[in-house]
Amino acid sequence: MKILLTGGAGYIGSHTIIELDKAGYQVAVVDNLYNSNPKALERVSKIIGKEIPFYKVDIRDEEGLTKAFEAEKPEAVIHFAGLKAVGESVAKPLEYYHNNMTGTFILLDVMRKHGCKNIIFSSSATVYGDPAQIPITEACPKGHCTNPYGQTKSMLEEVLMDVQKADSEWNVVLLRYFNPIGAHQSGTIGENPNGIPNNLMPYITQVAVGKREELGVFGNDYDTHDGTGVRDYIHVCDLAAGHVCALKAIQRNCGLGIYNLGTGHGYSVLDVVNAFEKANGVPVKYSIKPRRPGDIATCYCNPAKAKEELGWEAQYGIEDMCRDSWNWQKNNPNGYDE
Ligand code: NAD
Ligand code: WQD
Repeated sequence: MKILLTGGAGYIGSHTIIELDKAGYQVAVVDNLYNSNPKALERVSKIIGKEIPFYKVDIRDEEGLTKAFEAEKPEAVIHFAGLKAVGESVAKPLEYYHNNMTGTFILLDVMRKHGCKNIIFSSSATVYGDPAQIPITEACPKGHCTNPYGQTKSMLEEVLMDVQKADSEWNVVLLRYFNPIGAHQSGTIGENPNGIPNNLMPYITQVAVGKREELGVFGNDYDTHDGTGVRDYIHVCDLAAGHVCALKAIQRNCGLGIYNLGTGHGYSVLDVVNAFEKANGVPVKYSIKPRRPGDIATCYCNPAKAKEELGWEAQYGIEDMCRDSWNWQKNNPNGYDE
Protein backbone atom coordinates (compact mmCIF):
# COMPACT_ATOMS: atom_id res chain seq x y z
CA MET A 1 0.00 0.00 0.00
CA LYS A 2 1.39 3.40 -1.00
CA ILE A 3 1.18 6.25 1.49
CA LEU A 4 1.78 9.89 0.63
CA LEU A 5 3.22 11.98 3.45
CA THR A 6 2.67 15.72 3.20
CA GLY A 7 5.33 17.46 5.27
CA GLY A 8 7.21 14.17 5.30
CA ALA A 9 10.64 15.84 5.44
CA GLY A 10 9.83 17.41 8.82
CA TYR A 11 10.53 16.19 12.33
CA ILE A 12 7.61 13.80 12.84
CA GLY A 13 7.22 12.88 9.17
CA SER A 14 10.84 11.78 8.75
CA HIS A 15 10.54 9.45 11.74
CA THR A 16 7.21 8.12 10.50
CA ILE A 17 8.70 7.05 7.15
CA ILE A 18 10.94 4.61 9.04
CA GLU A 19 8.03 3.02 10.92
CA LEU A 20 5.94 2.79 7.76
CA ASP A 21 8.79 1.12 5.92
CA LYS A 22 9.30 -1.36 8.79
CA ALA A 23 5.60 -2.23 8.59
CA GLY A 24 5.86 -2.90 4.84
CA TYR A 25 4.21 0.25 3.45
CA GLN A 26 5.58 2.14 0.46
CA VAL A 27 5.98 5.89 0.91
CA ALA A 28 6.27 9.09 -1.09
CA VAL A 29 6.83 12.58 0.27
CA VAL A 30 5.49 16.00 -0.67
CA ASP A 31 7.11 18.91 1.15
CA ASN A 32 7.94 22.51 0.22
CA LEU A 33 10.97 22.35 2.56
CA TYR A 34 9.86 25.58 4.24
CA ASN A 35 10.73 24.17 7.64
CA SER A 36 12.86 21.17 6.75
CA ASN A 37 16.04 20.09 5.07
CA PRO A 38 16.39 17.59 2.20
CA LYS A 39 19.22 15.96 4.18
CA ALA A 40 16.59 14.57 6.54
CA LEU A 41 15.19 12.48 3.70
CA GLU A 42 18.68 11.47 2.53
CA ARG A 43 19.41 10.20 6.03
CA VAL A 44 16.10 8.38 6.30
CA SER A 45 16.87 6.79 2.94
CA LYS A 46 20.13 5.53 4.39
CA ILE A 47 18.38 4.11 7.45
CA ILE A 48 15.76 2.22 5.44
CA GLY A 49 18.11 1.40 2.55
CA LYS A 50 15.67 2.69 -0.08
CA GLU A 51 15.13 5.75 -2.23
CA ILE A 52 12.19 7.89 -1.13
CA PRO A 53 10.15 9.43 -3.97
CA PHE A 54 10.14 13.15 -3.15
CA TYR A 55 8.16 16.07 -4.61
CA LYS A 56 9.23 19.57 -3.64
CA VAL A 57 5.74 20.94 -3.82
CA ASP A 58 3.66 23.32 -1.74
CA ILE A 59 0.33 21.66 -0.96
CA ARG A 60 -1.40 24.87 -2.03
CA ASP A 61 -0.05 24.25 -5.54
CA GLU A 62 -2.86 22.14 -6.96
CA GLU A 63 -1.05 21.37 -10.19
CA GLY A 64 2.11 20.24 -8.42
CA LEU A 65 0.13 18.14 -5.99
CA THR A 66 -1.87 16.59 -8.82
CA LYS A 67 1.36 15.56 -10.56
CA ALA A 68 2.55 13.85 -7.38
CA PHE A 69 -0.78 12.02 -7.05
CA GLU A 70 -0.70 10.92 -10.67
CA ALA A 71 2.84 9.63 -10.38
CA GLU A 72 2.42 7.90 -7.01
CA LYS A 73 -1.26 6.88 -6.89
CA PRO A 74 -1.35 6.81 -3.08
CA GLU A 75 -4.12 4.95 -1.28
CA ALA A 76 -3.80 7.04 1.88
CA VAL A 77 -2.32 10.36 2.97
CA ILE A 78 -0.67 11.23 6.26
CA HIS A 79 -1.04 14.98 6.46
CA PHE A 80 1.81 16.50 8.47
CA ALA A 81 2.35 19.63 6.36
CA GLY A 82 1.63 22.78 8.27
CA LEU A 83 3.18 25.72 10.04
CA LYS A 84 3.43 25.04 13.76
CA ALA A 85 5.07 27.88 15.71
CA VAL A 86 2.51 29.14 18.21
CA GLY A 87 4.07 32.57 18.82
CA GLU A 88 4.72 33.21 15.13
CA SER A 89 1.10 32.34 14.35
CA VAL A 90 -0.05 35.22 16.58
CA ALA A 91 2.17 37.62 14.63
CA LYS A 92 1.34 36.16 11.20
CA PRO A 93 -2.25 34.90 11.39
CA LEU A 94 -2.98 35.16 7.67
CA GLU A 95 0.10 33.17 6.73
CA TYR A 96 -0.90 30.45 9.18
CA TYR A 97 -4.55 30.33 8.15
CA HIS A 98 -3.64 30.33 4.47
CA ASN A 99 -0.94 27.69 4.73
CA ASN A 100 -2.74 25.30 7.06
CA MET A 101 -6.36 25.81 5.99
CA THR A 102 -6.05 26.49 2.24
CA GLY A 103 -3.34 23.85 1.99
CA THR A 104 -5.64 21.23 3.52
CA PHE A 105 -8.62 22.26 1.36
CA ILE A 106 -6.55 21.82 -1.79
CA LEU A 107 -5.12 18.54 -0.56
CA LEU A 108 -8.60 17.14 0.22
CA ASP A 109 -9.87 18.21 -3.18
CA VAL A 110 -6.96 16.57 -5.01
CA MET A 111 -7.40 13.42 -2.90
CA ARG A 112 -11.11 13.26 -3.75
CA LYS A 113 -10.43 13.76 -7.45
CA HIS A 114 -8.05 10.81 -7.36
CA GLY A 115 -10.38 8.57 -5.38
CA CYS A 116 -8.03 8.60 -2.39
CA LYS A 117 -10.32 8.98 0.62
CA ASN A 118 -8.09 7.89 3.49
CA ILE A 119 -6.36 10.49 5.64
CA ILE A 120 -4.52 10.70 8.94
CA PHE A 121 -4.32 14.25 10.22
CA SER A 122 -1.68 15.66 12.59
CA SER A 123 -3.79 17.32 15.21
CA SER A 124 -2.65 18.49 18.59
CA ALA A 125 -3.42 18.52 22.29
CA THR A 126 -3.74 22.26 21.78
CA VAL A 127 -7.36 21.68 20.59
CA TYR A 128 -8.32 21.01 24.23
CA GLY A 129 -7.33 24.58 25.18
CA ASP A 130 -7.16 24.77 28.97
CA PRO A 131 -8.50 21.24 29.42
CA ALA A 132 -11.74 20.68 31.27
CA GLN A 133 -10.34 17.50 32.86
CA ILE A 134 -6.99 15.87 33.58
CA PRO A 135 -6.04 13.33 32.35
CA ILE A 136 -7.59 14.36 29.04
CA THR A 137 -9.72 11.78 27.25
CA GLU A 138 -11.05 12.20 23.73
CA ALA A 139 -14.49 12.81 25.28
CA CYS A 140 -13.15 15.98 26.86
CA PRO A 141 -14.70 18.98 25.05
CA LYS A 142 -12.45 21.00 22.80
CA GLY A 143 -11.45 24.30 24.37
CA HIS A 144 -10.68 27.83 23.37
CA CYS A 145 -7.43 28.04 21.43
CA THR A 146 -5.54 31.19 22.25
CA ASN A 147 -3.59 31.36 18.98
CA PRO A 148 -4.15 31.02 15.22
CA TYR A 149 -2.02 27.86 15.04
CA GLY A 150 -4.31 26.07 17.48
CA GLN A 151 -7.38 27.44 15.70
CA THR A 152 -6.23 25.90 12.42
CA LYS A 153 -5.92 22.47 14.06
CA SER A 154 -9.31 22.73 15.71
CA MET A 155 -11.05 24.03 12.57
CA LEU A 156 -9.40 21.47 10.32
CA GLU A 157 -10.63 18.71 12.62
CA GLU A 158 -14.17 20.03 12.03
CA VAL A 159 -13.62 20.22 8.27
CA LEU A 160 -12.35 16.65 8.16
CA MET A 161 -15.23 15.39 10.29
CA ASP A 162 -17.74 17.09 7.95
CA VAL A 163 -16.06 15.58 4.90
CA GLN A 164 -16.29 12.11 6.45
CA LYS A 165 -19.89 12.68 7.55
CA ALA A 166 -20.92 13.70 4.03
CA ASP A 167 -19.27 10.74 2.32
CA SER A 168 -18.85 7.51 4.25
CA GLU A 169 -16.23 6.29 1.78
CA TRP A 170 -13.81 8.53 3.66
CA ASN A 171 -11.73 7.19 6.54
CA VAL A 172 -10.42 10.04 8.68
CA VAL A 173 -8.16 9.59 11.69
CA LEU A 174 -7.42 12.64 13.80
CA LEU A 175 -4.33 12.09 15.93
CA ARG A 176 -3.95 14.56 18.76
CA TYR A 177 -0.27 14.59 19.56
CA PHE A 178 0.88 15.64 22.99
CA ASN A 179 4.53 16.82 23.27
CA PRO A 180 6.79 14.91 20.88
CA ILE A 181 10.50 14.88 21.77
CA GLY A 182 13.39 12.45 21.25
CA ALA A 183 14.92 11.25 18.02
CA HIS A 184 15.69 8.09 16.09
CA GLN A 185 18.24 5.94 17.90
CA SER A 186 20.74 6.32 15.04
CA GLY A 187 21.20 9.96 16.08
CA THR A 188 21.13 10.98 12.42
CA ILE A 189 17.67 12.56 12.28
CA GLY A 190 15.88 14.74 14.81
CA GLU A 191 14.19 18.02 15.53
CA ASN A 192 15.92 20.92 13.80
CA PRO A 193 14.35 24.23 14.78
CA ASN A 194 15.27 27.44 12.97
CA GLY A 195 16.68 30.14 15.24
CA ILE A 196 15.80 30.23 18.92
CA PRO A 197 13.81 27.11 19.84
CA ASN A 198 10.26 27.69 21.07
CA ASN A 199 9.90 24.27 22.63
CA LEU A 200 11.44 22.93 25.80
CA MET A 201 13.54 19.95 24.66
CA PRO A 202 15.37 21.62 21.76
CA TYR A 203 16.12 24.52 24.11
CA ILE A 204 17.53 22.12 26.72
CA THR A 205 19.71 20.31 24.16
CA GLN A 206 21.04 23.62 22.81
CA VAL A 207 21.99 24.71 26.33
CA ALA A 208 23.63 21.33 26.92
CA VAL A 209 25.66 21.58 23.70
CA GLY A 210 26.76 25.13 24.53
CA LYS A 211 24.76 27.02 21.90
CA ARG A 212 22.60 28.82 24.48
CA GLU A 213 23.69 29.99 27.88
CA GLU A 214 20.77 28.90 30.03
CA LEU A 215 17.22 27.64 29.89
CA GLY A 216 14.53 30.07 30.98
CA VAL A 217 11.93 28.15 32.97
CA PHE A 218 8.64 29.90 32.24
CA GLY A 219 7.05 30.21 35.66
CA ASN A 220 7.40 28.27 38.92
CA ASP A 221 4.14 29.34 40.50
CA TYR A 222 1.72 27.02 38.70
CA ASP A 223 -0.47 24.68 40.68
CA THR A 224 1.76 21.65 39.99
CA HIS A 225 4.03 19.52 42.20
CA ASP A 226 7.01 21.87 41.78
CA GLY A 227 5.30 24.95 40.34
CA THR A 228 6.52 24.45 36.76
CA GLY A 229 4.35 23.45 33.79
CA VAL A 230 3.47 19.76 33.41
CA ARG A 231 3.24 18.09 29.98
CA ASP A 232 2.87 14.67 28.41
CA TYR A 233 6.16 14.16 26.53
CA ILE A 234 6.14 11.37 24.00
CA HIS A 235 9.02 9.80 22.10
CA VAL A 236 8.78 10.71 18.42
CA CYS A 237 9.37 7.05 17.44
CA ASP A 238 6.37 6.00 19.56
CA LEU A 239 4.37 8.74 17.87
CA ALA A 240 5.54 7.51 14.46
CA ALA A 241 4.43 3.98 15.34
CA GLY A 242 1.00 5.38 16.22
CA HIS A 243 0.55 6.33 12.56
CA VAL A 244 1.11 2.73 11.48
CA CYS A 245 -1.63 1.60 13.91
CA ALA A 246 -3.91 4.34 12.57
CA LEU A 247 -3.31 3.15 9.00
CA LYS A 248 -4.31 -0.36 10.01
CA ALA A 249 -7.57 1.09 11.38
CA ILE A 250 -8.08 2.83 8.04
CA GLN A 251 -7.56 -0.49 6.27
CA ARG A 252 -10.37 -1.86 8.47
CA ASN A 253 -12.58 1.02 7.19
CA CYS A 254 -12.79 2.76 10.54
CA GLY A 255 -14.73 5.79 9.28
CA LEU A 256 -13.91 8.55 11.76
CA GLY A 257 -11.40 7.97 14.56
CA ILE A 258 -10.05 10.48 17.09
CA TYR A 259 -7.14 9.53 19.32
CA ASN A 260 -4.84 11.09 21.86
CA LEU A 261 -1.23 10.06 21.33
CA GLY A 262 0.63 10.56 24.57
CA THR A 263 2.10 8.42 27.32
CA GLY A 264 -0.40 9.40 30.01
CA HIS A 265 2.42 10.62 32.28
CA GLY A 266 2.90 14.27 33.18
CA TYR A 267 6.40 15.67 33.76
CA SER A 268 7.19 19.20 34.91
CA VAL A 269 9.84 21.38 33.28
CA LEU A 270 12.17 20.68 36.20
CA ASP A 271 11.43 16.93 36.00
CA VAL A 272 12.57 17.03 32.38
CA VAL A 273 15.71 19.01 33.23
CA ASN A 274 16.55 16.48 35.98
CA ALA A 275 15.80 13.48 33.76
CA PHE A 276 18.02 14.97 31.03
CA GLU A 277 20.92 15.49 33.43
CA LYS A 278 20.51 12.00 34.88
CA ALA A 279 20.21 10.24 31.51
CA ASN A 280 23.14 12.05 29.92
CA GLY A 281 25.40 13.21 32.73
CA VAL A 282 25.37 16.72 31.24
CA PRO A 283 24.41 19.80 33.29
CA VAL A 284 21.61 22.11 32.12
CA LYS A 285 21.86 25.61 33.54
CA TYR A 286 18.51 27.29 34.07
CA SER A 287 16.85 30.23 35.75
CA ILE A 288 13.24 30.97 36.58
CA LYS A 289 11.53 33.49 34.29
CA PRO A 290 8.00 34.87 34.18
CA ARG A 291 5.18 32.71 32.85
CA ARG A 292 4.86 32.53 29.04
CA PRO A 293 1.57 34.04 27.88
CA GLY A 294 -0.94 31.41 26.75
CA ASP A 295 0.65 28.55 28.72
CA ILE A 296 -1.46 26.28 30.89
CA ALA A 297 -0.37 24.54 34.09
CA THR A 298 -0.99 20.90 33.27
CA CYS A 299 -1.66 18.88 30.15
CA TYR A 300 -1.47 15.11 29.95
CA CYS A 301 -3.73 12.52 28.45
CA ASN A 302 -5.41 9.25 29.08
CA PRO A 303 -4.18 7.18 26.12
CA ALA A 304 -6.52 4.21 26.79
CA LYS A 305 -8.63 4.69 23.65
CA ALA A 306 -5.62 4.38 21.34
CA LYS A 307 -4.60 1.23 23.21
CA GLU A 308 -8.03 -0.36 23.04
CA GLU A 309 -8.96 0.56 19.49
CA LEU A 310 -5.61 0.89 17.72
CA GLY A 311 -3.54 -1.49 19.82
CA TRP A 312 -1.01 1.29 20.25
CA GLU A 313 0.86 2.17 23.40
CA ALA A 314 3.99 4.25 24.04
CA GLN A 315 7.06 2.12 24.74
CA TYR A 316 9.64 4.71 25.72
CA GLY A 317 10.06 6.60 28.99
CA ILE A 318 11.30 10.10 29.76
CA GLU A 319 14.93 9.01 30.14
CA ASP A 320 14.89 7.32 26.73
CA MET A 321 13.49 10.53 25.25
CA CYS A 322 16.19 12.62 26.94
CA ARG A 323 18.96 10.21 25.84
CA ASP A 324 17.83 10.19 22.22
CA SER A 325 17.29 13.96 22.02
CA TRP A 326 20.83 14.43 23.28
CA ASN A 327 22.28 11.77 20.99
CA TRP A 328 20.85 13.67 18.00
CA GLN A 329 21.96 17.11 19.25
CA LYS A 330 25.50 16.14 20.26
CA ASN A 331 26.12 14.38 16.95
CA ASN A 332 24.60 17.28 15.00
CA PRO A 333 25.26 20.47 16.96
CA ASN A 334 24.04 22.52 14.00
CA GLY A 335 21.21 20.22 13.01
CA TYR A 336 21.37 19.32 9.33
CA ASP A 337 23.82 22.17 8.58
CA GLU A 338 27.31 20.71 8.49
P1 NAD B 1 7.84 20.26 10.95
O1 NAD B 1 7.78 21.73 10.72
O2 NAD B 1 9.15 19.65 11.27
O3 NAD B 1 7.20 19.48 9.70
C1 NAD B 1 6.17 20.04 8.93
C2 NAD B 1 6.62 19.94 7.48
O4 NAD B 1 5.61 20.50 6.64
C3 NAD B 1 7.91 20.74 7.20
O5 NAD B 1 8.82 19.87 6.55
C4 NAD B 1 7.45 21.86 6.27
O6 NAD B 1 8.44 22.21 5.34
C5 NAD B 1 6.23 21.25 5.62
N1 NAD B 1 5.23 22.21 5.14
C6 NAD B 1 4.68 23.25 5.82
N2 NAD B 1 3.79 23.89 5.04
C7 NAD B 1 3.79 23.25 3.84
C8 NAD B 1 3.08 23.44 2.62
N3 NAD B 1 2.22 24.44 2.47
N4 NAD B 1 3.32 22.60 1.60
C9 NAD B 1 4.20 21.57 1.73
N5 NAD B 1 4.90 21.34 2.86
C10 NAD B 1 4.69 22.17 3.90
O7 NAD B 1 6.78 19.93 12.10
P2 NAD B 1 6.53 18.59 12.90
O8 NAD B 1 6.91 18.83 14.29
O9 NAD B 1 7.09 17.44 12.16
O10 NAD B 1 4.94 18.56 12.86
C11 NAD B 1 4.22 17.82 11.88
C12 NAD B 1 2.74 18.10 12.08
O11 NAD B 1 2.36 17.74 13.39
C13 NAD B 1 2.36 19.57 11.91
O12 NAD B 1 1.10 19.64 11.26
C14 NAD B 1 2.24 20.06 13.34
O13 NAD B 1 1.35 21.13 13.46
C15 NAD B 1 1.70 18.82 14.03
N6 NAD B 1 2.01 18.78 15.46
C16 NAD B 1 3.30 18.94 15.87
C17 NAD B 1 3.59 18.92 17.23
C18 NAD B 1 5.00 19.15 17.72
O14 NAD B 1 5.17 19.52 18.88
N7 NAD B 1 6.03 18.95 16.90
C19 NAD B 1 2.57 18.72 18.16
C20 NAD B 1 1.28 18.55 17.70
C21 NAD B 1 1.01 18.59 16.34
C1 WQD C 1 6.56 22.77 27.41
C2 WQD C 1 6.72 23.33 28.82
C3 WQD C 1 6.64 25.73 28.89
C4 WQD C 1 10.33 26.41 26.60
C5 WQD C 1 3.64 23.37 22.20
C6 WQD C 1 2.44 23.85 21.43
C7 WQD C 1 1.50 22.71 21.20
C8 WQD C 1 2.22 21.51 20.57
C9 WQD C 1 3.45 21.14 21.31
C10 WQD C 1 1.99 21.68 18.21
C11 WQD C 1 5.78 24.49 29.12
C12 WQD C 1 8.01 25.23 29.29
C13 WQD C 1 9.26 25.82 27.26
C14 WQD C 1 11.30 27.10 27.37
C15 WQD C 1 10.08 26.55 29.38
N1 WQD C 1 2.66 21.83 19.25
N2 WQD C 1 9.14 25.89 28.60
N3 WQD C 1 11.13 27.14 28.72
O1 WQD C 1 3.73 24.75 25.01
O2 WQD C 1 3.26 22.38 25.85
O3 WQD C 1 3.18 22.87 23.44
O4 WQD C 1 4.27 22.30 21.48
O5 WQD C 1 0.85 21.37 18.12
O6 WQD C 1 0.48 23.19 20.38
O7 WQD C 1 1.80 24.87 22.16
O8 WQD C 1 5.36 22.84 24.54
O9 WQD C 1 7.80 22.58 24.59
O10 WQD C 1 6.82 24.89 24.23
O11 WQD C 1 6.62 23.83 26.47
O12 WQD C 1 9.96 26.64 30.58
O13 WQD C 1 12.25 27.68 26.84
O14 WQD C 1 8.04 23.87 28.92
O15 WQD C 1 6.27 26.85 29.63
O16 WQD C 1 5.43 24.39 30.48
P1 WQD C 1 3.83 23.30 24.82
P2 WQD C 1 6.73 23.57 24.88
